[in-house]
Amino acid sequence: MLVASNRGPVSYEVREDGSLHTKRGGGGLVSGLSAIGSDADSLWVCSALSDGDREAVRRGEGEPGVRMLDIPADVHADAYNGIANSVLWFVHHMLYQTPLEPVFDAEFRRQWASYETYNRAFAQALAESAAPGAAVVVQDYHLTLVPGLLRELRPDLRIGHFSHTPWAPPEYFRMLPDDIAEQVLRGMLGADRLGFLTRRWADAFTACAEQVVGGIGDTRIGVHGLGADADFLRERSHRADVEERISALRAEIGEGRRAIVRVDRTELSKNIVRGLLAYRQLLDDRPEWRERVVHVAFAYPSRQDLAVYRDYMAEVRRVAEEINSVYGTPGWTPVLLHLKDDFARSLAAYRLADVALVNPIRDGMNLVAKEVPVVSDEGCVLVLSREAGAFEELGEEAIAVNPYDVVGTASALHEALSVPPEERAERTKRLAAAATALPPAQWFLDQLNALRS
Ligand code: G6P
Repeated sequence: MLVASNRGPVSYEVREDGSLHTKRGGGGLVSGLSAIGSDADSLWVCSALSDGDREAVRRGEGEPGVRMLDIPADVHADAYNGIANSVLWFVHHMLYQTPLEPVFDAEFRRQWASYETYNRAFAQALAESAAPGAAVVVQDYHLTLVPGLLRELRPDLRIGHFSHTPWAPPEYFRMLPDDIAEQVLRGMLGADRLGFLTRRWADAFTACAEQVVGGIGDTRIGVHGLGADADFLRERSHRADVEERISALRAEIGEGRRAIVRVDRTELSKNIVRGLLAYRQLLDDRPEWRERVVHVAFAYPSRQDLAVYRDYMAEVRRVAEEINSVYGTPGWTPVLLHLKDDFARSLAAYRLADVALVNPIRDGMNLVAKEVPVVSDEGCVLVLSREAGAFEELGEEAIAVNPYDVVGTASALHEALSVPPEERAERTKRLAAAATALPPAQWFLDQLNALRS
């Protein structure tokens, strides 16, 4: 069995003494897939992303079961920053500010050629490494052309592709130049089976395929709603480093105050700025919450090679500081913004959250919405965007928001803060049950079995 993804399960760092240090990779895809573990018969093919990764490839060292591809830096940058993250991610999350963007010009065509090269490098590596008849599961929008390319090289393989993002509706997807839209769809339809996180994204894909290439042909489509890994989370969230961070956070929040928690990559689609504006609106509309609540916002750096992400991060910081300067008092900091990635601190915040704010513009699933109820100590009310994939499973027990509606989100926050403790605990139990219905290992096994059958 082979897995292919841009970001792998680990990354390496060269220590001062010259040794290689292994770190766990980040993001929803990796959290989901890490649970499958590794055995002698599996191989994970991924990109070398850091200097440490490239050094590991050069030395021929690293984790068994992981093969990193050292794709030339300029090709990788065009494919990853240019096409995957600035075009395909924007299309599926509908992030373009359409009066001016997108512009599919000659520069785009040049980057597209790199995207093809990069996809071909994966297809070749997989073709070289796969045993006869092996199952290959290709992940995400970075590698949409791989199934088709791999099928040509190795018709004997069972090929699957899984999308961790939403899929755009046809009228948005078809902003892509016709030949590119066709290439993406035909590339994916080279797979025996395509997987999506929700029915909504699967249906959108089918609608695009019908309009652009006349249908999905023989390819099968399945829906697999990745759930939270309860065993891992419960164990991990009770280790000493998390306990320490709980004490530190409680001290920062202040005695007797409620915490509205969010934890995200600083990602445009996560809608962090409108979340802050909604919190500000809450302080305006309901002054009784002033001094009694704190917004704990963890916004970890992501895709910082892209100017829009850097600008977005600056805007998050600016709005948080403004709220603190307008509303703060000597004993009360209304927003605690942390920008440095710290998994143990995220778990600490999950455990003590009174309200979790998950308000993406659009999201494939959103695992934070599923993780919080699993580790919450005393129950937590979930304010959840109806545009998150997780809404399909958690919507009934959450307080739904339209992510663009700041006033609506503010009143949802008020409603969430006002839920009585017993009801909160009950809701959290039901949320946790729904959130763990399909744990990562089972999620992956289901796909593999379906692919092999
Ligand atoms: C999303 C994507 C993943 C990606 C992750 C982190 O979850 O679906 O493919 O790995 O974001 O983004 P990054 O660009 O840092 O890999």
